[in-house]
Amino acid sequence: MSFVDKLRTIVGDRGLITDDQGKHPYLTDWRENYLGAALAIVRPATTEEVAAVVKLCAAEKVAIVPQGGNTGMNGGGTPHEDGHEIVLSLTRMNRILDIDPIGYTMTVEAGVVLKTIQETAAQHDRLFPLSLGAEGSCTIGGNLSTNAGGVQVLHYGNARNLVLGIEVVLPNGEIWNGLRALKKDNTGYDLRDLYLGAEGTLGIITKAVLKVWPKPKDHATSWVAIPSPEAAVELLSGANSASEDNVTSCELMGRQGIDLVLKHIPAVSDPLAERHDWYVLMEWSSTRPRRDGANAAGLREKMEGYLGEAMEKGLVLDAVIAQTEAQSQALWQLRENHTEASKKEGPSIKHDISVPVSNIPKFVIEGTAAMKKALPECRPVIFGHVGDGNLHFNCQAPAGWGKPQFTPHVETISGAIYDLVVGYGGSISAEHGIGQIKVDELAHYRSKIELDTMRTLKRALDPRNIMNPGKVLRI
Ligand code: FAD
Ligand code: MLT
Ligand code: ZN
Repeated sequence: MSFVDKLRTIVGDRGLITDDQGKHPYLTDWRENYLGAALAIVRPATTEEVAAVVKLCAAEKVAIVPQGGNTGMNGGGTPHEDGHEIVLSLTRMNRILDIDPIGYTMTVEAGVVLKTIQETAAQHDRLFPLSLGAEGSCTIGGNLSTNAGGVQVLHYGNARNLVLGIEVVLPNGEIWNGLRALKKDNTGYDLRDLYLGAEGTLGIITKAVLKVWPKPKDHATSWVAIPSPEAAVELLSGANSASEDNVTSCELMGRQGIDLVLKHIPAVSDPLAERHDWYVLMEWSSTRPRRDGANAAGLREKMEGYLGEAMEKGLVLDAVIAQTEAQSQALWQLRENHTEASKKEGPSIKHDISVPVSNIPKFVIEGTAAMKKALPECRPVIFGHVGDGNLHFNCQAPAGWGKPQFTPHVETISGAIYDLVVGYGGSISAEHGIGQIKVDELAHYRSKIELDTMRTLKRALDPRNIMNPGKVLRI
């Protein structure tokens, strides 16, 4: 029996895609930087099917590329071009298995789309706080495997902080049931943490027990024009106490990104009359319900007071505060469409970096100069999670340039940015991971002892090197 026929006996016809047209969407990444090939796309419906597929692959030495929503930024979910791998898509494993509002947990299969998890939590008066532009199509398995960040990390933490337990199919096909709903568990090494952020190189996450939070009952969203990134850091610092520790998002954006969104995304408009160089989108939220009417008291009023004081100090040039949920969503559209708009504009390099928050202002100045020195015509598009010290210090190709013209400059531009990042004690990948795009950079910027330890772990857990080989590390 052929390998593909053996796969068919495990997952059935519904779980197997072998024709070129059907395979294509799984073989290229969201940014269309990579086009791979695969023996088949395998879509198991249960953990037991995943385990049987992995056992077969281990026996036949066929490598496996796990894939969720395929929204990753670094080619981690795209197979190599040689066509000797399978893509194992978790998207049919999309059931919510349990929600426990009393214990503040939810148990889900790995292929559940993030938005479904958020909505399920909301239906039970709870919040699942992971929130990012791809939430309508990324899956929780992908979120955990990339340790995703998003726009509420500064209050709730990244994906690693939002999960209690996981179930994993190991590279030999055994199932590790680590689905514990425990907040405290000091029984030996933390195996769970190994798989979070491992980008599918150590095993396949098949289920997770997630943490949920009380659902906020009051929100305030503002769009604030500021004179500089320095003002953003100061504004956020003061907002933490002014809001009584209720700042849940603080996103910095340069004008270049706003212009791209206004150009490429329909039905989005600039909320302020005048153009400014820098903006902050700030959201406060609290579980204390607001009071409307004559004695209105809530976060909007507090935010208004705070921004008024900040304006007097010169930290704020102009601002709007959303008065309705629809207005708040319109402001968020301007922020969340940066990635989509940049893709529509043409090629770009994503520098998903972090530095200590107080160094952000200096970094922006020096990083912009370094980018311009490397390629004077390039267009810096700088935005991101300033409260986490994580900026998308992206470089849009000069207007009208295609990939063949831009690609020869990538190494020089990125090298200049990453050297600066490392000089600040920062990270060359704050949230998107390594995948295949940054394997050389990881090898260059992490120390020998770190790389040796990572390789030792990889070899011990995946001795046949069948779990997403060539991603993150070269063995
Ligand atoms: P995929 O892209 O399918 O896979 C990502 C990696 O995880 C691959 O290496 C894959 O092999 C592995 N993997 C997937 N599922 C599993 C599994 N079950 N077990 C083991 N390994 C697995 N990311 C952020 O962190 N913050 C953001 O703010 C953010 N914004 C984004 C906005 C847009 C518009 C887009 C397109 C992407 C954005 N991303 C962001 C990147 C991306 O959405 C996240 O990395 C997301 O977590 C990936 O989930 P996915 O299901 O699409 O995973
Ligand atoms: C975001 O925060 O919107 C994405 O992580 C940024 C990006 O696409 O570079
Ligand atoms: Zn981001």
